[in-house]
Amino acid sequence: MAHYPPEAYGELNEGIQEILISAEELDQRIMELGRAISRDYDGCNPLLVGVLKGVVPFIASLMPAITIPVEVDYMAISGYGPGTKTDRGVRLEKDLTAPIAGRHVLFVEDVIDTGLTLNYLLKILEARKPASLKVCTLFNKSRRRLIQIPSAYVGFELPNLFVVGYGLDYREKYRNLPFVGLLKPEVFQPD
Ligand code: IMP
Ligand code: MG
Repeated sequence: MAHYPPEAYGELNEGIQEILISAEELDQRIMELGRAISRDYDGCNPLLVGVLKGVVPFIASLMPAITIPVEVDYMAISGYGPGTKTDRGVRLEKDLTAPIAGRHVLFVEDVIDTGLTLNYLLKILEARKPASLKVCTLFNKSRRRLIQIPSAYVGFELPNLFVVGYGLDYREKYRNLPFVGLLKPEVFQPD
């Protein structure tokens, strides 16, 4: 896919301290993930399940990188406040449009950080008795994990830092950057 250079993003790019993963590296790795999924799920008619909104750019690139028949559905959850308590609330705002019983479900995530969000969603999906349930995450921050979740497919390991771009936001901005970068400290104010 063609991409604008970072400078084309003007104000957004000026907020970036350092690019960690380039648009080209993302393209290449996502093609590899698609190849692996196509091989592993051949004949299974898998259902990709994504959580809005961060996963949209990843799913948009991953879908055409998969060469077998595949379906997609989405969920949406409400954000929780800051804090790392394991009992913090996550609310399901939008559910899947179809049942998943007996389906081979591949849960697609943009980033797994503490794992709390994913743990909550996987429990909901498991209760519906899919034939299989695996996880594909573009970014993984394994050092921040509070709950262990096996990920079948991981695009990139990230350091324990807040990053933006390729779907990941800071206060709803920066999702449209085609690369992943660190924000300048004067831009990023942890809440
Ligand atoms: P957790 O795994 O429950 O801690 O939360 C993962 C969610 O936190 C992701 O779906 C993102 O919405 C958000 N998140 C985690 N790390 C980052 C980051 O570096 N940048 C932007 N959002 C992030
Ligand atoms: Mg998210």
